[in-house]
Amino acid sequence: MEPGSAPRTLCVLGSTGSIGTSTLDLVARNPERFQVDVLTANANVELLASQARQFNARMAVVADPDRYDELKTALSGTNIAVAAGPDALNEAADRDTDYVMAAIVGAAGLEPTLTAARRGACVALANKECLVSAGTVFLEAVDKADATLLPVDSEHNAIFQVLETHNRDAIDKIILTASGGPFRTWEKARMEAATPAEAVAHPNWSMGAKISVDSATMMNKGLEVIEAYYLFGVETDQLDVLVHPQSVIHSMVAYTDGSVLAQLGSPDMRTPIAHTMAWPARMPAPAARLDLAEIAQLTFEAPDLERFPALRLALAALQTGGAAPTLLNAANEVGVAAFLGGEIGFLDIAAIVEDTMSRGVAQGLSGAPASLDDVLQLDVAGRAIAAELVTARRS
Ligand SMILES: NC(=O)c1ccc[n+]([C@@H]2O[C@H](COP(=O)([O-])OP(=O)(O)OC[C@H]3O[C@@H](n4cnc5c(N)ncnc54)[C@H](OP(=O)(O)O)[C@@H]3O)[C@@H](O)[C@H]2O)c1
Repeated sequence: MEPGSAPRTLCVLGSTGSIGTSTLDLVARNPERFQVDVLTANANVELLASQARQFNARMAVVADPDRYDELKTALSGTNIAVAAGPDALNEAADRDTDYVMAAIVGAAGLEPTLTAARRGACVALANKECLVSAGTVFLEAVDKADATLLPVDSEHNAIFQVLETHNRDAIDKIILTASGGPFRTWEKARMEAATPAEAVAHPNWSMGAKISVDSATMMNKGLEVIEAYYLFGVETDQLDVLVHPQSVIHSMVAYTDGSVLAQLGSPDMRTPIAHTMAWPARMPAPAARLDLAEIAQLTFEAPDLERFPALRLALAALQTGGAAPTLLNAANEVGVAAFLGGEIGFLDIAAIVEDTMSRGVAQGLSGAPASLDDVLQLDVAGRAIAAELVTARRS
């Protein structure tokens, strides 16, 4: 930050979640650099209101319209404006802020993130489901409005840091690393009985429930490969996945001269978040300093697509294209929610995704969505099929 320059104004979509609270932690540590303009949550009014007060936000928005009065009461006596409902979420994203952290989980984040892109904002993208379900539509909006897209996901942020844009033709492969999740070494029979508590207990990262389950199925890595395809404009066969249990190398880019560039760090999301908040400069972040002598060993293995069919399905959806990634994402969100709600088993998640994909094709759902409306319709259709499959497995 240049001495004397004005603080960057922030909109944090999903401020009460794991990424949202880490973003605000960085604001608290660097108060002279940032001014919080607007914060949003789905239902956690208590935390939203306390964040809005702590950071002296100008506005707080709750997506659930029934929580308006609760939020209004929680912020009474302050000058903080209050709003509720999906339109208010879009209005929050449309406010004239310097930076938007897109950290709502799932396809629910699509519309507000797209709104921010359409006004040409600097969008730090944590929400990967947005690019998976609406990649082309989203990137068209970014291009048209000349928005800036900064990847927050640690893998994509790593790639962003080591991808030489002036040497695009010399890129051989992009290698996304994966921790392998809590079930990396588990037999399939043991995974069958895995509980939600076991699935969200990630060995390296502290994250929200949905992405933690995605890491356990390795769908997360599949979603990330699709995300990387859209973000970095490479061919599908240039994207590789490598299991690296220590989560120290966050990803790599291999060049045709044999060089491989990697970004390393402790597994703490505040590093990639700080990278986007200060970009193109850098700012201090509190992640533990990397002590490679203490870590001593970095290990690698190939992903096991038989034990982790969700990854196989995501890679196949990327190859198939068209409606497949949108359906995959919708079915996965339904499957993960049903698993977390105790309705289905862990292995049912991937089975539901697979069956949704084939039923979708049978119902003629194969064309690529060309507009936001197309994406939303496909998403609804995918969720309906997946919900039927959940019911069938429950009974
Ligand atoms: N956590 C990580 O380390 C990490 C790393 C890389 C990428 N990501 C991605 O970042 C996104 C956020 O992940 P997270 O782990 O921070 O999730 P999280 O902890 O579950 O937080 C989700 C946030 O979104 C809000 N939200 C949920 N449903 C909503 C809806 N229907 N409408 C509006 N807001 C809604 C939540 O509000 P309430 O609190 O009120 O429910 C919360 O603020 C995900 O797409 C994830 O894949 C996360």
